[in-house]
Amino acid sequence: MKNLMIATVATVALMASVTTAQADGQKTFQSACFACHGTGAAGAPMIGHKDVWAPRIAKGIATLEKHALHGFKGKKGVMPAKGGRSDLSDADVKAAVAYMVSKAK
Ligand code: HEC
Repeated sequence: MKNLMIATVATVALMASVTTAQADGQKTFQSACFACHGTGAAGAPMIGHKDVWAPRIAKGIATLEKHALHGFKGKKGVMPAKGGRSDLSDADVKAAVAYMVSKAK
């Protein structure tokens, strides 16, 4: 019983640290969004390109988050929901959006 308690505490602590690490927008971007947004593949707006991001940012961060979370089909191509990474939490995806937006200012 004591061992089970220790195992449970260790698991919870591990889960907490993983969650903190994944809420890091830059890390999430590198692992889940870079394939398209780092290269412009599939018509994705490239990170750091202010001119392509300005009209998107003008729609409001809430709209960008919604499109990143649930997917979006625009004139350039298709943004898959969560970039196709359904394992990511909503917080991870929002952090990655914030990271990309921060690089477009
Ligand atoms: C398979 C390629 C692909 C991946 C992976 C991907 N995206 Fe996208 N994303 C796109 C494309 C293409 C568009 C542009 C759609 C358009 O406007 O036509 C886009 C657009 C966006 C937009 C702008 C939406 C808008 O309303 O203008 C945001 C924000 C975004 N992506 C966030 C993310 C985040 C965050 C990730 C990682 C979790 C991610 N994307 C991963 C392809 C991708």
